[in-house]
Order: sequence, then structure tokens, then C-alpha cells
Amino acid sequence: MLSYQHAFHAGNFADVLKHTVLVQILDYLKLKDKPLFYLDTHAGLGLYHLNSKEAAKNREYVSGIGKLWRLNDSPETIRPYLELIKSLNPQGSLLHYPGSPVIAQKLLRRTDRLFLFELHPNQYQLLNSQLKPDKRIKIELGDGLNEGLNLLPPIQHRGLVLIDPSYEVKTDYKAVVSVLAAMYKRFANGIFALWYPVVERGYIQALELAIQKSAIKNVQLFELGVEPDSPSLGMTACGMIVVNPPWLLSDRMANCLPWLVKVLGQDSQGFFRVVQLVKE
Ligand SMILES: C[S@@+](CC[C@H](N)C(=O)[O-])C[C@H]1O[C@@H](n2cnc3c(N)ncnc32)[C@H](O)[C@@H]1O
Repeated sequence: MLSYQHAFHAGNFADVLKHTVLVQILDYLKLKDKPLFYLDTHAGLGLYHLNSKEAAKNREYVSGIGKLWRLNDSPETIRPYLELIKSLNPQGSLLHYPGSPVIAQKLLRRTDRLFLFELHPNQYQLLNSQLKPDKRIKIELGDGLNEGLNLLPPIQHRGLVLIDPSYEVKTDYKAVVSVLAAMYKRFANGIFALWYPVVERGYIQALELAIQKSAIKNVQLFELGVEPDSPSLGMTACGMIVVNPPWLLSDRMANCLPWLVKVLGQDSQGFFRVVQLVKE
């Protein structure tokens, strides 16, 4: 069993980008009255305590959400996400950060259905104990990539699949594209959001090429870098690859990413990318 625990990283710049995009997509999907399907293949926990020993180890949230949650010059795109963070920290100090399960639980409606997969037994148990009983949500202990595929196509015909692996094994970069292509084949009008870290740029170039060579259509990429690429520094950038993006997402992210670069970039060296990876 691999050892990744998101509690060490909760609220870092990567979560800020990922969860900003997640909130944008869920809010867009809710514009229609029809029930939604939501699949989180790599759920992690519901809520992270930022004063836990894990979060306190490297205090990654300090250079992520900590830098921006109370700024009042934020672009409109990021505000619904920031409002959610504020609602979890009503005392005015940053103590809690939501994982994707709680973000989706808070935003989705009575008629929507949520499927959350977590492979790690400890994380699964914690997730189960954190989420209050909720008939809309099914939490599974298992591999969200392969078992998640079996849920497609969903009866709701509309929804989002969030794919957020930890990429502890280098083969994950290839594996996610095969599963994404298989999921897309079953649910071609679904929205898919795949998160990736930039540790070694070559892996991301190969990932982008593999998506372009696949049968997947209409793909956009949103990347936030806090430092220039450097294999010796660990994760210096990260991105979200979105299949069938909401029609205004690209404009909205192009409007919000420069602000994120300004606030989160280190020594004015941050950067962003908005790319139409595959045409409609
Ligand atoms: C990056 S974290 C998830 C963070 C979460 N999606 C969020 O945004 O708050 C990845 C999680 O996936 C779990 N995991 C790893 N491989 C998995 C797999 N094949 N299926 C389901 N969960 C997996 C890890 O234990 C970890 O909790």
C-alpha cells in the first residue's frame, strides 16, 4: 500500500487551483434543474484540520489558501470557492480546509448523487466518520479508476468525474490517460477534470500528447506555476485538464489565473497556462 496522505498538503497552491476549478464546474452544472452524477475517483478526506501534526509539518497551506482567503481584491471567478473556505472558518482564523468530498457535499443538491472512492483503508475510515450520514453519498473502499469506470454511463446523463491521483508511481501518468479515455468512451458528454502535478515537465508533455492522440474531444488545460520548472524542487506547478469544459470556464480561468500568479507566485516567478488541448 502506498503512503500518500493528503493531510500533509491540504490547502496548498495545488488545492487552490483544483478546488477553484471544481467549484466552477459544479456551479455551472447546477444551472440546470436536472439531477447530477458526481464521481470522485481519489477522494481523500472530507475535512482537514490545519493544526494537525500532518498539516503543521510543512505548513503548505500557508503559501496556498493562507495567502489569499481574506484578500478583498479577488476576481469574481474565485469568490464562490473563497466563500466556502470562509464558511468553514467562521471564527476568522484558518483552521479547517475542505477536501473535494466536502466541497461537493456542500455544493450539490438533494437530487444529486455522489460516489466517492478511497483506496487507503485508514483514509476511507476517516472519510466515513467525517461525512455526516447523507443518503446522496456512497463511499467505497477501492480503486476509483477501475471501479469508477463501472459506474459509467450514469443514469443521470449529466455530471462530473474528478480524477485526482497522487502520482506516487510514475506509471500513473500513463494509466490515467487510458482510464480517462475508457471513461470518456462510456460517458462522452460527461465533464472530466484530471489534476496533475508538474514535478518533471517531460511527464506532463507526454500526458498532453497522449490525450491529444486519444479519441477524447474538447479538452482544455489550466495550469498554475509558482516557480519555474525545476526537477530538483518538487512540485512547482500543477494543472487541471478538463474534458467538455463549461463554456465560460476558459474565460473565467484566464481572468483569475493572473491574480493567482500574483498572489501565490514566488519571487515574481509564477506563471500560468490556458490551453485548448483538443478541439471540440
Ligand atoms: C490527492 S489525494 C485526494 C485529494 C482530494 N481529491 C481533494 O481534492 O481533496 C489522493 C487520494 O487518493 C487515494 N488513492 C490513491 N490511489 C487510489 C485509487 N487507485 N483509488 C482511490 N483512491 C486512491 C489516496 O489514499 C489519497 O487519499
